Amino acid sequence: MRLVKPSLEWKEQHENYIEEWGHERIVPSSMELSGFPTYEEYLKALDERIQGKGQWVPSSHYFLVNDVNQIVGMIDIRHELNEYLRTIGGHIGYSIRPSERKKGYASYLLKEALIICKELNIKQNLITCNEDNIGSAKVILNNGGIEEDLFITEEGLLKRRFWIAIN
Ligand SMILES: CC(C)(COP(=O)(O)OP(=O)(O)OC[C@H]1O[C@@H](n2cnc3c(N)ncnc32)[C@H](O)[C@@H]1OP(=O)(O)O)[C@@H](O)C(=O)NCCC(=O)NCCS
Repeated sequence: MRLVKPSLEWKEQHENYIEEWGHERIVPSSMELSGFPTYEEYLKALDERIQGKGQWVPSSHYFLVNDVNQIVGMIDIRHELNEYLRTIGGHIGYSIRPSERKKGYASYLLKEALIICKELNIKQNLITCNEDNIGSAKVILNNGGIEEDLFITEEGLLKRRFWIAIN
């Protein structure tokens, strides 16, 4: 398994992941392709996020790829927190493709992402999940997450907030 950055080379695999995902909003949202007429335009918009242009804080984005070059998971690392991220979004967002869940991949992906966070000098990582997302909470706990509180969004959604310290 390895982490790779989105590029034109991964276009078909990325589309295949989204096809398997179905109609729900893709997680992380930076990996959403709808609304972009071409993959090149998607990559251009992603680059604006990476550089922290406009409304975005600087970020890094990776696919988790297996030995047969299939994208198994996706992850976003936000390098700093704005008000929305501090309460709701957190530093990191991830997903695993439906057919590859419950095999330990998300726990592995977050572990690898925390190594990148160390390189980015993010010492305290905030990771959040919906109150009913038992799988995601376990992934965070598996990686040393310490729960701080439950945040209630304006829409009444309950968000569990965890911190992972990196030494
Ligand atoms: C949440 C998600 C990333 C988990 O991915 P995964 O690869 O299945 O996670 P893991 O295999 O590493 O599982 C970690 C633990 O959670 C458990 N788990 C995973 N999914 C679960 C579920 N739906 N219900 C209960 N437990 C679950 C696993 O059994 C494992 O338990 P263990 O540590 O006791 O062995 C995946 O379900 C997903 O992509 N969901 C949609 C997107 C999402 O919710 N992203 C997180 C946003 S905060």
